[in-house]
Order: sequence, then C-alpha cells, then structure tokens
Amino acid sequence: MKIAVLKERRPGETRVAATPETVKKFIGLACGVVVESGAGDSSHISDSAFEEAGASIAQSAADAVKGADVILKVARPMTGADGENEVSGLPANTILVSSLQALTEKDTVEALATQKVTAFAMELMPRISRAQSMDILSSQSNLSGYKAVIDAAATFGRAMPMMMTAAGTIAPARVLVFGAGVAGLQAIATAKRLGAVVMATDVRYAAKEQVESLGGKFIVVDEEAMKAAETEGGYAKEMSDEFKQKQADAVRAEVIKADIVITTALIPGRPAPKLVAADVVADMKPGSIIVDLAVESGGNVEGSQFGETVMTDNGVTIIGHANMPARLARDSSALFSRNLFNFLSTMIDKETGNLAIDWDDDVVTGTLVTKDGNVVHPRLTGEGGNS
Ligand code: NAI
Repeated sequence: MKIAVLKERRPGETRVAATPETVKKFIGLACGVVVESGAGDSSHISDSAFEEAGASIAQSAADAVKGADVILKVARPMTGADGENEVSGLPANTILVSSLQALTEKDTVEALATQKVTAFAMELMPRISRAQSMDILSSQSNLSGYKAVIDAAATFGRAMPMMMTAAGTIAPARVLVFGAGVAGLQAIATAKRLGAVVMATDVRYAAKEQVESLGGKFIVVDEEAMKAAETEGGYAKEMSDEFKQKQADAVRAEVIKADIVITTALIPGRPAPKLVAADVVADMKPGSIIVDLAVESGGNVEGSQFGETVMTDNGVTIIGHANMPARLARDSSALFSRNLFNFLSTMIDKETGNLAIDWDDDVVTGTLVTKDGNVVHPRLTGEGGNS
C-alpha cells in the first residue's frame, strides 16, 4: 500500500501530516510512503529527514498521489472556492485522512464525494477511550491552550507572578478562562505555572473538579442546568438564553477585573457562543489582553477578528490568531501525525501492509464522511444526533 503525504497549501498552515517518526512506523507496517517535496519545511522537517526515515520524495502533489491508496493531510483541502483546487487533484477511489470541518464545510464534503474520494474527517473521531490517541481535537487544542497563554503573556505589559522585591510588591496577573475543555484546562495549567491567579467558567458542571484540581477557581452559574449541559460524547450543548444571561451576569465582574481573558468555548457543528459582549470589553482595564481561541468558529468575544490582533478604544488587545496550533508547528505536526498513524494503522493488515478496513468499527463509522461518490456520515445525511 502506498501512502502519500501532501504539502499544505492553505495560507498560514505550517503543519505537516507525517513526521520521520510516523514514516518509519508506516514502513514498519510494510507500507510505502511518498512525501511531497517541501511538505515539512514549515515544521523544520527537511526532505532529507523524510528520506532518511525511508520515504521517497515527489516533486509535485500530482506525482505524490500517483498510484496512492491513502493521502494524508492536515487541513481541509481547498475546492477552488478558496484559491487552488486541491480536491480535483485527488484521484478517484483514494482514501483521504485529514481534518475536514465536515459539519460546517459541507461544500468540501460534497466536492470530495463528487471526486469519488473516500474521506475520513479526523475531527469527528468519537470520544471513546480507545480513540484518545487518534483525537486531533485534543492533541491540537492542548497546544493551543498553552500557546494562548504564552502569546497573552508576551503581549501583556506586566509580569504574571506575584513578585516581592526591595522596590515593592507586584500583584499577580488575574487570568479568566472561558471553556474548561482540553484547551481551557491547558490554559489554566499554563497560567498557574506562570504564577497567575486563575478563574474559569464552563457550562459543564464536570469541569468544576478539573479546574479546581489545577488550582483554578470555578465560577458556578446554575448547578442544575450545568449538570444537564453535557452530551454523551462529552461535549457542551447549546444553552438556553436564560442560562446565557445568568452566565453573562455571573462572569461580568470577573472579566472586568481580569488582566488576561482566554476564551475556548465551542459547540461542535455550531457557531461559537458569544460570551464576552463589546460593552464588557469596553469596561476592561487598559492593557488587558483577550485571546479568542474560538475565533475560527465565529469567536466568543464581540470584536475579535479572525487572523487579526486588534486594540480597542479603551486599550484592550484582542488576539484572534487564525490557526493557533500552526504557531507551534513542530509539536503540533508531531502529535497530529501520531493521531493519523494511530488511526490508519487500525486499517492496515500488519502482515501484508494492505488495507483491511473494518467498515463497522466505531472509529471508522464515526469519521467516514464520503464513500463511493456519496456523503455517508449520519450527521451530514440528517440521521445522526448531536454527540
Ligand atoms: P470543545 O473544544 O468542544 O469546547 C471547549 C469547552 O467549551 C468545553 O469544555 C465546553 O463545555 C465549553 N463551552 C461550550 N459552550 C460554553 C459556554 N457557553 N460557556 C462556557 N463554556 C462553554 O470541547 P473539548 O475541549 O474538546 O472537550 C470537552 C470534554 O470532552 C472535556 O471534558 C474533555 O475532557 C472531554 N474529552 C474526552 C475525550 C475522550 O474521552 N476521548 C477526548 C477529548 C476530550
């Protein structure tokens, strides 16, 4: 079986879908690996490093996918609507394993079906313990949460920890985190390590214990509503307008007191909930920093802009980096690549190196979005729930 690794073409995408480590592992499973020249450049992985691991190098995407059974990518392939047309270069009957944002980017899924590509959307990986090592959302969110705090600290014109010096005491920074999922918990842990006083809020009550175990203070809005806010898959549900108002009132004073606000709140397949209104930002202190990690899904903060850092009239910096994991390309590529390997290796016959897909496996049915020219995922065909 031949696996092709393509160079990413979306602006700002620095990651790569394989590393020398995963190439070696695939070769260990009797697969051949072809990497498009330059695919690892932005992650500081050279063509020769891939060659030393046993891959061959193709000079173009077209050469790389020639005769390939499986194509690995990081970002959703472009359809032509957003620049180049990467989808049209994918040969019929090949398997694509990538992040696809399938629930919101339906045109991409349709284009892949028309192209007769068998596509797996890695962001739809079910949250079962066996699939944790294949979960790109977790591996990338973890790094995003860390980097959000580092970016905020670098922009913040003050120190993070309390410092007692001969010239007097510096108060610790106050950090408030919205959404205590994977990114939020890592943001809390990172801010604590830097010495900040940390608070957090989430709609899921289960997050309380996790926040407290990291030394953060959890803001409870409505215990009963929060206990019912989690889906079977561990994600948040969309909350009622009444809850949202209660939450806004409960956190308003904390946002205004905060020096750094990190927002990470997401609801799968929906626009991100708006949690920090413009009038609250307007009451924040000059020099405060907001990092909106949900900006790609519409943002949690009124006034945050995708791919931009903006300064409000009252001196609050709102950071809206388009692709936070891409800012730590080496580590994010390493983890993403391992997620892909852990997933794909379940579909490879260890003796022959050929594909042996169990189409009934939960990790397969959970992520398969197109097959035989059709869109097949239940959440896209209208047969699935919100898990
Ligand atoms: P996510 O990225 O979808 O959302 C981030 C956080 O925002 C979540 O904690 C969510 O509850 C919160 N949120 C949503 N709406 C909100 C609102 N209006 N106000 C405040 N917060 C809001 O979620 P993520 O980080 O991917 O994980 C959610 C849960 O799933 C976590 O408990 C995590 O530990 C669990 N998980 C389980 C895995 C497994 O079993 N394989 C793998 C990864 C995560």
